[in-house]
Order: sequence, then structure tokens, then C-alpha cells
Amino acid sequence: MRRKLAAGNWKMNGRYADLTQIEALCAAHDGAEADLLICPPYTLVAAAAALCADHALNIGGQDCHPEAAGAHTGDVSAEMLQDAGASAVILGHSERRADHAETNERIHDKARAAYQAGLLAIICVGESLAEREAHSTLEIIGAQLSASIPDAATGENTVVAYEPCWAIGTGLTATPDQIGEVHDFIRARLEDRFGDRVGQSVRLLYGGSVKPENAAEIFAVSNVDGALVGGASLKTNDFSPIIRALEAEANPS
Ligand code: PGA
Repeated sequence: MRRKLAAGNWKMNGRYADLTQIEALCAAHDGAEADLLICPPYTLVAAAAALCADHALNIGGQDCHPEAAGAHTGDVSAEMLQDAGASAVILGHSERRADHAETNERIHDKARAAYQAGLLAIICVGESLAEREAHSTLEIIGAQLSASIPDAATGENTVVAYEPCWAIGTGLTATPDQIGEVHDFIRARLEDRFGDRVGQSVRLLYGGSVKPENAAEIFAVSNVDGALVGGASLKTNDFSPIIRALEAEANPS
């Protein structure tokens, strides 16, 4: 059984005052029936991790450099994130691919750095609207999976997030059928490459305009093990119902 994961990506949002949201999440969800993660901007990682030290909520970064240290002004390494109290890092988000011209190969090298530092790598894949309209979604996702996931991936060190670019921050959500098709494809690709045991243990998240109103429907889709949530992770009042929907899926009663 794969343990469910609700991950929040704060992107370039959040100041010290917003740490109250982290405190509220900690208070509301200790003993959650799912893994919980918030990835705030670098400036808040250490403070957020300190607040979560005795709670179930984990803290992650939104990117890292492939090297552990060196002359790379403005970059942060996986080791530094780990040192600041992070246990995970998002890699290859479509905004990084677009804003920073990140290639699959570079994402692969960042994932290896994350493994080296003991961080869970959340590797993002997803097609653009033009690629979906050209019916090349699965081809694009297949190429992203092959080139960006290292051979050393396991269910313990890697999570794959499917985030169709056209659904991120747009309010448009992929339909359950669209999500199911891609998640089943990713699962099959992982099983082919890594064998059944590892292939079945890697968790697959959906991301793209997940909100309280659509979470339950998305979590019911096959091979959806949780969500990577942007906008709706900024406020506990929005993220908490998403977490509860995931718990309900994990433990129907
Ligand atoms: P969104 O972002 O939930 O605001 O669409 C998701 C993401 O980019 O991870």
C-alpha cells in the first residue's frame, strides 16, 4: 500500500507572518492518515522546519542545485535544504522548466543530488496545451520520465507529480479520465523500467488547480496517491479540506 501524500507548493509566496498557516496545519493534522508536506520559499524553510519539529507536517524546498556546494551565486543545494530541516524537494516544476530553461537532464542531476542529501525528490512532469492538442501528451510524459528520473529511484526517494501545464494556476483541472490515463501510463512506465516492486511503490501525485471542491473526485482516480497543490495550499482553510479528502480516500469508513 502506498501511503498518500498531500504536498503544498507555496511558490514565490509567503513571509514570516505566514508561518501562522504552518502552525495551524501542524495543530490541525497531527496523526493524519497521509503524509503532509509544505514547500515554502527558501527564506522560510528553516523557520518552518523548526515549527514542525514535533509534528507530522514535513517541510521541503522548491528546487535545488545539482552540486552540493560551490560558486553558484543565488543557488541552494540539496545538502543546504537538508541542513535547514527540509526532507523533500520539488524538482522540474513546469515554472522552473519555463522560467529557467530546465532540461530533463538537469532535473535528473538535481534528483541525484537530492538522493545524496537524503531528500525525497518530487519530480514533476506534464504537457503543455499545444502538446495535448497535438495528441502528444503520453509521448512527452514518457520522454520526461525516461530522462529526468535517475536509475537509483525507489519508492522511498522519489515521487512523481503529473501536472498538466495548462491546469496550473488557471482554475482548469484535468478531467478524471485525463488524469487516470496519464497516471496509469506513468505507473506502467515505472514498472517497465524499475520492475513491479519499485514501480508500484513510487507515489504519483496530481497537480493543477486542486481545490477543496474537486479534491475527492481527483483522489478517487486510479493511481492517484495524492496531490501537489499550489494556490490552495497557502491557506490552512483551503488545504485542510484537501487533506481530509485524501484521508477519506486512504481510510474509507
Ligand atoms: P495550482 O498549482 O494548484 O495553483 O494550480 C499547482 C502547482 O503548480 O504545483
